[in-house]
Amino acid sequence: MVLPPHNHQMWAVIGIYGGREDNIFWRRIKGDPDGRIEAAGARSLRTGDTCPMGPDIIHSVTNPIPRLTAALHVYGGRFFETERSEWEPDELTEKVLDVETLRARFSN
Ligand SMILES: [Fe+2]
Repeated sequence: MVLPPHNHQMWAVIGIYGGREDNIFWRRIKGDPDGRIEAAGARSLRTGDTCPMGPDIIHSVTNPIPRLTAALHVYGGRFFETERSEWEPDELTEKVLDVETLRARFSN
């Protein structure tokens, strides 16, 4: 699974209890009229790792191995009711995150 860059608009803590996930952390390009982002860092998470994220974080997630990642996600707010953004993977332009699309990604 690959999750394109997205924000949470609330703090979060991710704890991995199986598998792996590779996170790229992004930052907004100041003054970009399309809300583009650029890579700012990365972190590979494996079983036993935790990753606290502040409310302004933007990240994308890739599972690099052929097994499901098992993780506990704790969010400091109403995750599915909060207006959030995601970024088109091709051009890294900002758009409103569609919650139903997000739900569908996790149901497959
Ligand atoms: Fe996320």
